[in-house]
Amino acid sequence: MAISYKDLGLVNTKQMFADAIKGGYAIPAFNFNNMEQLQAIIGACSETNSPVILQVSSGARKYANQTLLRYMAQGAVEYAKEITDGKGIPIALHLDHGDTFELCKDCVDSGFSSVMIDGSHHPFEKNMELTKQVVEYAHAHGVTVEGELGVLAGVEDDVVSDVTHYTKPEEVEEFVAYTGVDSLAISIGTSHGANKFTPDQCTLDENGVLVPPPLRFDILEEIEQKLPGFPIVLHGASSVPMDLIKIINQYGGEMKDAIGIPEEWLRRAAKSAVCKINIDSDGRIAMTAAVRKVFAEEPAEFDPRKYLGPAREALKNLYMEKTKNVLGSAGKAG
Ligand code: G3H
Ligand code: 13P
Ligand code: ZN
Repeated sequence: MAISYKDLGLVNTKQMFADAIKGGYAIPAFNFNNMEQLQAIIGACSETNSPVILQVSSGARKYANQTLLRYMAQGAVEYAKEITDGKGIPIALHLDHGDTFELCKDCVDSGFSSVMIDGSHHPFEKNMELTKQVVEYAHAHGVTVEGELGVLAGVEDDVVSDVTHYTKPEEVEEFVAYTGVDSLAISIGTSHGANKFTPDQCTLDENGVLVPPPLRFDILEEIEQKLPGFPIVLHGASSVPMDLIKIINQYGGEMKDAIGIPEEWLRRAAKSAVCKINIDSDGRIAMTAAVRKVFAEEPAEFDPRKYLGPAREALKNLYMEKTKNVLGSAGKAG
């Protein structure tokens, strides 16, 4: 039997995005695969009073079991209430990088409040048809839909692209009008993972810090002009904090040439029509740094709570910083 997100206490992204565009901030979209990540996300967003989009990839569905993840998201609504004296925060449950109609339908039918249909690897026409098909089904159930135009370099689940294909502004109006999508992910130079740029693509600033090639804010601005007030989504928005990479490498890790998107650029994006910013890799990095430190300093430790606990704490602190100082969503939960 189909389950509606409305019965689970979740919300779709419609109001969240309308408020974010008006308020000049972005909603955090954080991925989760396990209990500690979920606790950290809900803890961080509850304590900073931020709305949140919980993202589940198809890899997460395979790893953790889709039914269990949905029950966890339902539990997260109650957990948020418990730690906010009954008030709660707006929580959307979103499929990240859905690649087929069947997967999106399954998520709609099992309580997701939002889905992404990522047809960006298909030719334009096929992307439009697939996206429209998902929108028709999802909207009939009150579920919001994110589409994508342009291809990010890097890995998107099982799909790998070596190069960035920037979003073509001349395509966005037709895509949005034809498909009826609620938001559009665009490609302006971000990419997935911890190695977004190679050092030789970067320049050195006066402090010896590597600065990546600039994001194509000109493309974003052109899209904003063509779609005034329409919600834009930025994937691949991890900043890859160097202090955390150093801790990982100091305690036996081998993360080489890790380079992310400077937070300053994300602050700028959050103030524009970008109203959803996807962050996953930074969270993985924060957890890995904390776990490696415990393993190195307390090699006799074998209680998972003793290393997953610090990892959860590190993730929560990182995400609190994001909502307060990068996305600007802190204090916007209503
Ligand atoms: O865009 C990708 C997200 O970081 C999810 O990654 O497919 O490894 O779960 P995943
Ligand atoms: P990062 O790999 O930069 O964290 O991007 C995550 C993402 O876009 C999930 O869809
Ligand atoms: Zn993504």
